[in-house]
Amino acid sequence: MSDDRTGTAGGTRAFTVAIDGPAAAGKGTISRAVAERFGFAHLDTGLLYRATGRRMLDGLDPIEAARALVPEDLQRDDLRTPPVADAASKVAAIPEVRAALVDFQRAFARRAGGAVLDGRDIGTVICPEAEVKLYVTASDAVRARRRFDELRGTGHEVTYETVLDDLRARDARDSGRADAPLKPAEDAVTLDTTELDIEAAVAQAVALVAERHAA
Ligand code: C5P
Repeated sequence: MSDDRTGTAGGTRAFTVAIDGPAAAGKGTISRAVAERFGFAHLDTGLLYRATGRRMLDGLDPIEAARALVPEDLQRDDLRTPPVADAASKVAAIPEVRAALVDFQRAFARRAGGAVLDGRDIGTVICPEAEVKLYVTASDAVRARRRFDELRGTGHEVTYETVLDDLRARDARDSGRADAPLKPAEDAVTLDTTELDIEAAVAQAVALVAERHAA
């Protein structure tokens, strides 16, 4: 998959913000807010794995599906469902799937004008040279509550217990895999959002990015 927009902002420097962490910790909201505040492009890398997982559920070979991914695949409106999240974390443990998605993510990360990427391995594998690395986390109970509210809000019939179980299973798979497991980069700043509302979490992330961007 190629990124047409890579380098089009010519003359502006590359600046990467890598935001990693477990499911439903607040990465997406923080990433979008940082991108908007600084005028950076944003890539939710989970969508790459979700789109590949979706294709696997459709009956395709996941490695072939990852190699054939095009940007439009990330726009599908059926990627944010529990079965697709589960399929995503299964295909994400296949090294050939991850390898097929590396170049696109690296090009996006170093595009001119700045980029925010959120995922599981951005600061550790995709962009170890990122200018800012954040590891966003929260307790299991708080993350499950947020995901439960989000899924209920979009009309999904789920129970809190199922959401909590799914989230723990997915985190265990993501942290336990051999290739690019979920873990904080050694030089990442940890942002625990268990006790923080979203405004406070965004404010802390923005302050860190502002400090590094000005340096
Ligand atoms: O972030 P999101 O919940 O959309 O990610 C779905 C799944 O994709 C994760 O559970 C994980 O298995 C995988 N993923 C990954 N590496 C990334 C982003 C997502 O392995 N950088």
